Amino acid sequence: MENHKGVPEHIAIIMDGNGRWAKERGLARSEGHRAGTENLRRIIRSAASQGVKYLTFFAFSTENWRRPKAEVDLLLRLLAEYIDRETEALHAEGARLLHIGREKGLSPELAAKVRHAIQLTRNNDRITVVLAFNYGGRDEIVHACQKLIEQGLDPEEITEERLSQAMYTAGIPDPDLIIRTSGEERLSNFLTWQSVYSELVFPPVYWPDFDEEWLERMIAEYTSRHRRYGGLESS
Ligand code: FPP
Repeated sequence: MENHKGVPEHIAIIMDGNGRWAKERGLARSEGHRAGTENLRRIIRSAASQGVKYLTFFAFSTENWRRPKAEVDLLLRLLAEYIDRETEALHAEGARLLHIGREKGLSPELAAKVRHAIQLTRNNDRITVVLAFNYGGRDEIVHACQKLIEQGLDPEEITEERLSQAMYTAGIPDPDLIIRTSGEERLSNFLTWQSVYSELVFPPVYWPDFDEEWLERMIAEYTSRHRRYGGLESS
């Protein structure tokens, strides 16, 4: 087993609380989502500088299509703007971008932007930033099963390893630490297959206010949990 004493290799974040952040300030929900989008930059930088190798953000779930159309449109637009605005900087800083989720459902323009960003940054290795967009954990498992059946596998050939390789996350290590901001304590269909051994933390802060200091605190919490329970492993 991998030694978890240090910084987590893969952190996955459920960016919750944008709406409540905005409401508390008398702002429209859209302002919360904008502030939330702005926050990605500082968290990516901070994580990369601490040696985190994979950082996954849950940006849009398969269930989020049920939100009012104006909010869905805004979230899709924010993703497109984010890719337009940040890809070059991420590339310059050595970040590789990946997408997990169904490409189907995204507009051809957005899908093309995502593909371009992935292609441009494919050889970078400082940190991998994974955007979970139009993503659902159960949907991913169903999709993976469909893929294996299409490949004509016999039932006994369906193994955990093959299923893992058929997930959108193929090649990405399972998350060591999952952070959900805003104090809500559930995973909401995020990385359902991959989260079985993840440490979970639920900081009581809305996503736009989750800063470098909070990230450091969550990493320290992760490290301390492993120090307590991993005594034999680390001696
Ligand atoms: C949860 O807050 C947040 C979301 C459903 C979307 C998160 C999306 C972004 C930060 C912007 C787009 C992402 C990228 C990668 C550009 P909520 O609206 O559920 O907040 P609430 O629970 O307080 O209402």
